[in-house]
Amino acid sequence: MGNQFYRESMFTVQNLTCESLVNPLGLAVMNPRFSWHIESDIPGTVQQGYCIELMDEDGLVWNSGEIVSAQSVLADYTGQPLAYATRYTWRVKVCVNDIWSNWSKPAWFETTLEKWEAPFICADDRPEDSYAVVFRREIHAEKPLKSARLYASALGLYEIFIGDKQITDTCFNPGWSAYDFRVLFQTFDVTDMLTSGIHTLTAHVAAGWFKGDLGFEKCRNLYGSTMAFSAHLHLVYTDGSCQTILTGDDWQFCASPIIYSEIYHGETYDARLESPDTWQSARILEPGSRSVEPFDGLPVRRQEVLPPIALFTTPGGDRVLDFGRNITGRVRFSVNGQAADRVKLRHAEVLDHSGNFYTENLRSAKCTDTYILKGGATEVYEPYFTFHGFRYVAVDEYPGEIHPGNFEAVVIHSDMERTGTFACSHPLINQLHSNIVWGWKGNALDIPTDCPQRDERLGWTGDIQIFASTACFLYNTLPFLVKWLHDLRLEQRPDGGVPHVIPDVLKKLNNDSHSACGWGDAAVIVPWTLYECFGDIRVLEDQYDSMCAWISRIHSQASGNIWNTGNHFADWVALDAKEGDYIGATPPDLCATAYYAYSTGLVAKTAEILGRSGDAEQYRKLHADIVTAYQREFFTPSGRLAAQTQTAHILSLVFALTPQAFIPRTIDTLVKLIEQNSGHMVTGFLGTPYFCHALSRNNKLNEAYALLLREDYPSWLYQVTMSATTVWEHLDGIKPDGSMWSANMNSFNHYAYGAVGDWLHKVVAGISPLEAGYKRILIAPQPGGSLTWAQAALKTPYGMVASRWEYTDGSFSLKVTIPANTSAEIVLPDKRRFTVGSGEYTYQ
Ligand code: BGC
Repeated sequence: MGNQFYRESMFTVQNLTCESLVNPLGLAVMNPRFSWHIESDIPGTVQQGYCIELMDEDGLVWNSGEIVSAQSVLADYTGQPLAYATRYTWRVKVCVNDIWSNWSKPAWFETTLEKWEAPFICADDRPEDSYAVVFRREIHAEKPLKSARLYASALGLYEIFIGDKQITDTCFNPGWSAYDFRVLFQTFDVTDMLTSGIHTLTAHVAAGWFKGDLGFEKCRNLYGSTMAFSAHLHLVYTDGSCQTILTGDDWQFCASPIIYSEIYHGETYDARLESPDTWQSARILEPGSRSVEPFDGLPVRRQEVLPPIALFTTPGGDRVLDFGRNITGRVRFSVNGQAADRVKLRHAEVLDHSGNFYTENLRSAKCTDTYILKGGATEVYEPYFTFHGFRYVAVDEYPGEIHPGNFEAVVIHSDMERTGTFACSHPLINQLHSNIVWGWKGNALDIPTDCPQRDERLGWTGDIQIFASTACFLYNTLPFLVKWLHDLRLEQRPDGGVPHVIPDVLKKLNNDSHSACGWGDAAVIVPWTLYECFGDIRVLEDQYDSMCAWISRIHSQASGNIWNTGNHFADWVALDAKEGDYIGATPPDLCATAYYAYSTGLVAKTAEILGRSGDAEQYRKLHADIVTAYQREFFTPSGRLAAQTQTAHILSLVFALTPQAFIPRTIDTLVKLIEQNSGHMVTGFLGTPYFCHALSRNNKLNEAYALLLREDYPSWLYQVTMSATTVWEHLDGIKPDGSMWSANMNSFNHYAYGAVGDWLHKVVAGISPLEAGYKRILIAPQPGGSLTWAQAALKTPYGMVASRWEYTDGSFSLKVTIPANTSAEIVLPDKRRFTVGSGEYTYQ
């Protein structure tokens, strides 16, 4: 490494990220970590060392020195404490084969405020009010500005304007956190909007998750009954002087043109009220014991717009726009008319079997947006504080003729970088994969939700536990899920119990049920999955106490290491449930003990990684004891499983709970249980995600493909043949005769069953992490079924990995791309194995 000889490098350093974010403004941590990719055409590129430089506007702040290390993902900042509210730029160079690269192009990050000092201000809304309020204050930028930052938060949801320019390009600010403990603030760069002179800053605030209707028991005011806004504006002038403006009683408020806004029910906007003349003084509101913290997730943004593909009249007479796919977001439209004319839109995911607009599955959610025109020039409106899960929109009122060209659907979700793709020769599987991706887009709106349409949309722990590994392949979910896990640990009960939903609104609904198997296990499985996929050890450090507390909680509930107490959803909505029941036939104590073992095993591994060898030893012992107890309780001495259900066999196999000698019998029985159901799965939330893995890991690849490729109900592809564009909550949300599953729980956008994506990525295309963050990669595609080719590509923390296999004229070939600074084990279908470094390879 000593060779300082520079030359035109065959490798460069690119894709710089800080805390896995590109140039983050308002970074939530003060001990940031840096990552980069090495782009290299030298096969087997390994980083020998790196050097980082960090600068502020006065010059060099830190030079890491030449560090001998292969670490290129989440490398620690080790300089002096950073200053708050300061922009830093940084660059990195790396050493490969004793040659140093050039410096990378610089990247930047900006730290956030040290503490929140701005008061919260409120108006006079009552608990029952669903109107929005506008707060305002004049801002006098006295001299030419060098920079201006606006930090803002609310009890409720906010959007901010300077003059008539909307400065919040993010939606649903300040996001949904565990509001009892913390409310978050965002940072906006408003330098370009505040030229010297006088400007009016206005903030619209609506009820949102804080005060509005929330949860399926029709409650509201769950966190408070008054909306409030808080802001801190920091101006830095070119002469070096600064000015800070905080919210306070010198701000004014009045009613907003948003005369009604609720997340579940929609929004009503009266454009005639856009220029109010009666303003009152705002009052200061104590925000309670909650802290105000920097936003630590990914902002929610408008992602794309879709034009309608059709306008038609239903047999029932509704005029309906079809946007071609089921999405989460809202409709933006333009309209011309007279003052007091109205546009009224209702939203639905599907049509019923007669082709009529179907809203019963929305339960009490009204999903209706209304716009009242001011008249005159063309008016354009998109709701501010509501979202809907929909494909179809009934235009109940609209002045003049409805032109589809005047409407567009705005797709909204957390701004995650797309990282993983998959395709194969089977069009229905490709459609399934697209549905999986859209299922995640539709349910990643600041928190991971079960569904986006009915009066629920909650952060169900079980759903994300099941889907996490699929999500982490498709998108960079790291900051998104880190924020959610932060709230999980805040909401965890003193005894380690984990709520069913995070943020925990159920505790507020006089429903103190919590800690169900497979749901509470999200406390362990989600951090573990993030570590595996992104190599972020800090997630494990931050969540470690929470993970251990969850295991202690189960331990306290178990007897003889069998977890046989409490209420469980168990194999939720499995098709082997008794008539009218949601809980599948697999005994809850079997599901619970299986998860107890699995999570304990993961905590043992976590303890080892964190260097807590004493803990690791204890958890390994506990794990072994649980496995023994499980085997004693659920396997007969000759190896028959007490529960003759598919899910019992799947969990016993994939969680390694089956005694070695009984594995053949267990897998054979699983295959028989498929045959007994005429080749179908009858599993629910806990069994379905692992079904194909259980088969393919135990020499039953053909059976796994047979299950995957079934098109008749129940199967993954059945809904694809029924034109689904997202993943349904029930395998038979719409039955073959066109009738619906009971409207009381029938979402057409639920990602849980999309967890089969994990099998497509890891087994069909063959990409999995062997070492955290894909530092070592396994490429082991297992072709099968009628597929003639399949491919996947993933932007790992190190760079692009890709795998594509195909059969041409009966002969197999595999093309692989391995990113620099990683290595890979390649296992061909004929079991030949290769160990390779970075580069491109073809195998026949
Ligand atoms: C949600 C599920 C959730 C379940 C728990 C449902 O209402 O939509 O996805 O996990 O309740 O029972």
